[in-house]
Amino acid sequence: MTKLLDGNQLALKIREEISKEIEEKIINKKRRIPHLGIILMGNNDSSITYVNSKIKECKKTGIKSTLIHLSSSISENILLKEIKKMNLNPLIDGFIVQLPLGKHINQEKIILSIDPKKDVDGFHPENFGKMALGMKSFFPATALGIITMLERNKIDISGKHSVIIGRSRIVGTPISILMSRKAYPGNSTVTITHSKTPNIESFTKQADIIIVAIGIPKFIKSNMIKKGSIIIDVGINNIKNNNKNILIGDVDFHNVYEKVSYITPVPGGVGPMTRIMLLKNTLKAALKNK
Ligand code: GUN
Repeated sequence: MTKLLDGNQLALKIREEISKEIEEKIINKKRRIPHLGIILMGNNDSSITYVNSKIKECKKTGIKSTLIHLSSSISENILLKEIKKMNLNPLIDGFIVQLPLGKHINQEKIILSIDPKKDVDGFHPENFGKMALGMKSFFPATALGIITMLERNKIDISGKHSVIIGRSRIVGTPISILMSRKAYPGNSTVTITHSKTPNIESFTKQADIIIVAIGIPKFIKSNMIKKGSIIIDVGINNIKNNNKNILIGDVDFHNVYEKVSYITPVPGGVGPMTRIMLLKNTLKAALKNK
């Protein structure tokens, strides 16, 4: 029987765990409430929606947040100055710079300018490199959310063939590292496919686990998967349906549902896990920040 991997319910449970940890380790010890900084540049609709939901999640969890919203036309230098302020502000435990940035901004330079100790997105090469080497670091929230979801649902990934579709630094690359690492959860055999992979279905048909983050609505169909596979849908595609905006994933959910053993819905699957993992990283940064 197909089992739905309910991200809303699990994120709620993890939120309660985080709130309890804040109470025990911070409030009861009269320490400062964890504080997340968010730098948002421009008015990209999706970025605004993501940032608002991160702020909302902070409120529900008992984490303070500060948003710096900059115009899309600001220079790279101004953005670097704002990052420096966050780096130096002792009251900020961790912060993120919401991506994507304007075309005139050098994204690499921006990520490199974030203090790795405050890099709760886990995108700085110091954190990313440590993760790749199996060392302790901040892990990118979506990848951490996915392995946590598999672990909490007692899905053993060791020795299973995982096919990842997409190689972005936000999802595809970090999840490939965490799935294949020599640790628990991990030890999966990973194939990464992407826009230049011919005949992607020849890989997905062999997969025990498919993690898809390609940004193509309903890309994965029933004839591309084997029976009993586990599907993790990272796609968030905003489309118009009868003049209404709806969110759909990269998987044709109803088409594959009967054939899979587990599947994440969109919305309500990976999205809430990503948001809560950012807060888990923020708490981790706050507990380290003495
Ligand atoms: N844009 C889309 N996802 C993310 C994320 O996880 N972090 C940041 N900073 N930007 C994003």
